[in-house]
Amino acid sequence: MKGLLLAGGTGSRLRPLTYTGAKQLIPVANRPILFYAVDAMVASGIHDIGVIVGDTKDEVMHALGDGGQFGANITYIPQSAPLGLAHAVKSAREFLGDDPFLMFLGDNLLRGGLGTLVERFQAGDYAASILLTAVDDPRQFGVAVLENDRVVRLVEKPKEPPSNLALVGAYCFQPVIHDAIAQLKPSWRGEYEITDAIQCLIDWNLNVDSTRVEGWWKDTGRPEDVLEANRLVLEDLATRIEGQVDGESRITGRVVIEPGAEVVRSDIRGPVTIAGGARIEDSYIGPYTAVGPQVVIRRTEIENSVILADSNIEDIQERIDQSLIGRGVRVAGGRRRPRGLRLVLGDQSRIDV
Ligand code: G1P
Repeated sequence: MKGLLLAGGTGSRLRPLTYTGAKQLIPVANRPILFYAVDAMVASGIHDIGVIVGDTKDEVMHALGDGGQFGANITYIPQSAPLGLAHAVKSAREFLGDDPFLMFLGDNLLRGGLGTLVERFQAGDYAASILLTAVDDPRQFGVAVLENDRVVRLVEKPKEPPSNLALVGAYCFQPVIHDAIAQLKPSWRGEYEITDAIQCLIDWNLNVDSTRVEGWWKDTGRPEDVLEANRLVLEDLATRIEGQVDGESRITGRVVIEPGAEVVRSDIRGPVTIAGGARIEDSYIGPYTAVGPQVVIRRTEIENSVILADSNIEDIQERIDQSLIGRGVRVAGGRRRPRGLRLVLGDQSRIDV
């Protein structure tokens, strides 16, 4: 079985972070989201992986390389435009050949992995197998109607959802899906929807199986989702202190301090992960925070936050909470008077003061 991992798309809901980088490479617990996706595929026994890339292809290729670091063999497949999931499959037609395959969205995180979905698909006689979970607002997703575990109807982003079972971004397909995709017309949002292609299989009386998500699932499309994903992943953190911590600092709870990181006169309360090259001085780093490589934090309190590489945060009077801070950002508190805010913010930045 082959794997198809989607790492294109524009990441519009994560601007401004995605002006300068791929959404799938935003780190959660200091690891790009996309890395967890490759790991999950490999863990389910899939090593031959095609990665769909768009405008951010150079960055994605640089991060994943040939896949060797994950025990995978990666082939890059350009998608001419972000025209939908079914269009991505069409773009990968040559790579996929006549093999069955697992498709996974590179900005999705699944605690329970992909193993059960793949095993059920391989053990049965199904044209497709989808992963489902109950959600509060199914209108933002593809929605499934079941009879036992068999899928009898699918609708993409329905105004009046026929159930609360949303399609999670993981799908197994037999090559017959290509025939269904060949018949598709663009949806109201101008995309070729994989949901419509699977409905086509159902209309042809082929069997479509479903599996429920085990553990949590997170689609990391928005900043609050990235923070929540960071929280969920840090929940499983195991303590490892390999950087330097001085005698005046206090470390409590589960904390990772990577080699080359330095903590001076600070209070770190886990779960917290601090990447190599980071420097924390006279500060408080509270639960559910990931501090990226080469980040400097001085005289500041911060918790529930994700700080990407090379940022510098100093002398902030109030506690920073629930924040997603991009690469190379400088946040400096004023000690001079008159005090006031001096801001240099990029397009579509968001700041609550
Ligand atoms: C896509 C699918 C949708 C699915 C969702 C899961 O939506 O079209 O059926 O429920 O992924 O994340 P999109 O992210 O394109 O809005």
